[in-house]
Amino acid sequence: MSNIWVVDREGVEYQLEAKSGAKVMEIIRGAGLPIEASCGGCCACATCHCYVDREWLPKLNPADEEELDMLDMAFDVNDQSRLTCQIRFAESLDGLRVTLAPV
Ligand code: FES
Repeated sequence: MSNIWVVDREGVEYQLEAKSGAKVMEIIRGAGLPIEASCGGCCACATCHCYVDREWLPKLNPADEEELDMLDMAFDVNDQSRLTCQIRFAESLDGLRVTLAPV
């Protein structure tokens, strides 16, 4: 079974089971962690914003224009920022680690 690691806003780390093809946002939300994802994954809200651990950034599909536009409107964006609804989990991402961005 594959896993991702998610650090919440209090610094608590969770290991979550991850299935290939699922959006990382769905995995986080499905585990009951506090991610709003108000647009449901349509890349239209930026409330699924997370920081991806540096070592994992090169292994992700690069952010497309739509995601970059949405991140432009998000708060506390840095060079590790991604929208987790735009990251699809695959076996190659087993062990991915992200931190929930502040709301
Ligand atoms: S859930 Fe809205 S942009 Fe990701």
